[in-house]
Amino acid sequence: MRLKDQIITERLPKHVAVIMDGNGRWAKRQGAERIFGHQHGVKAVRDTTEAAAELGIQFLTLYAFSTENWNRPRAEVDALMELLIHTIHAETATLNKNNIRLLAIGDLHSLPGNCYEQLQEAIRETSTNTRMTLVLALSYSSKWEITAAVKRIAIEVRDGMLKPEDIREDLISGYLTTAGIPDPELLIRTSGEHRISNFLLWQIAYAELYFTDKLWPEFGKDDLYAALVDYQQRERRFGMVSEQLK
Ligand code: FPP
Repeated sequence: MRLKDQIITERLPKHVAVIMDGNGRWAKRQGAERIFGHQHGVKAVRDTTEAAAELGIQFLTLYAFSTENWNRPRAEVDALMELLIHTIHAETATLNKNNIRLLAIGDLHSLPGNCYEQLQEAIRETSTNTRMTLVLALSYSSKWEITAAVKRIAIEVRDGMLKPEDIREDLISGYLTTAGIPDPELLIRTSGEHRISNFLLWQIAYAELYFTDKLWPEFGKDDLYAALVDYQQRERRFGMVSEQLK
């Protein structure tokens, strides 16, 4: 049976998050510059987004640029920002055609002005789409996000707008950049690295983790299907015992 046909549509995760890793290594293997890998990574972004939307996944979050990535060589950061601007601009029509809404999480104000503007324009232009939400994590890190949330909560408590006893788990979720987005049930990381790299630490508390050796530019629809088939074979117990789930 084809991988796609093994997926049980009724038991799809609502939200899949992906740490896209391995662009640089892929480029090196071709004897090319790292940016060549990022350029090819765009095809994997397109294929994964299309496959997720076709299946009926509601949220797809892609880790495109971390706060730590600002420390890469200036030329690579500049080239990545240019690629982002170009890709977001070029793909907005396709997102609309496929009824996909774009959102972004992260310290967006730290992006170069033209990148921020392009992003906001695409978010505006796709805001009424309903089939799937594609969330780009840009200048994102979990520790940054949690720190910002704690700071806002502290200020509101200080100013009397919030009482310490109001601080519950769901309130904290509402102060993160992912407010309103359900937690991912499945997190995929490519390139054989078994790390979370400061990504959605709060939100993945109960996510299933799936690691593949494929480098991101090699990741295609079948690789997403394989991750989903693997996910559906797992028993998600949320701290309970098997018998309680029956
Ligand atoms: C990780 O590979 C990849 C990134 C830091 C950037 C991801 C960006 C894209 C796929 C391009 C555009 C994306 C969108 C959403 C339009 P790496 O450079 O860390 O690879 P390495 O670990 O092999 O060095």
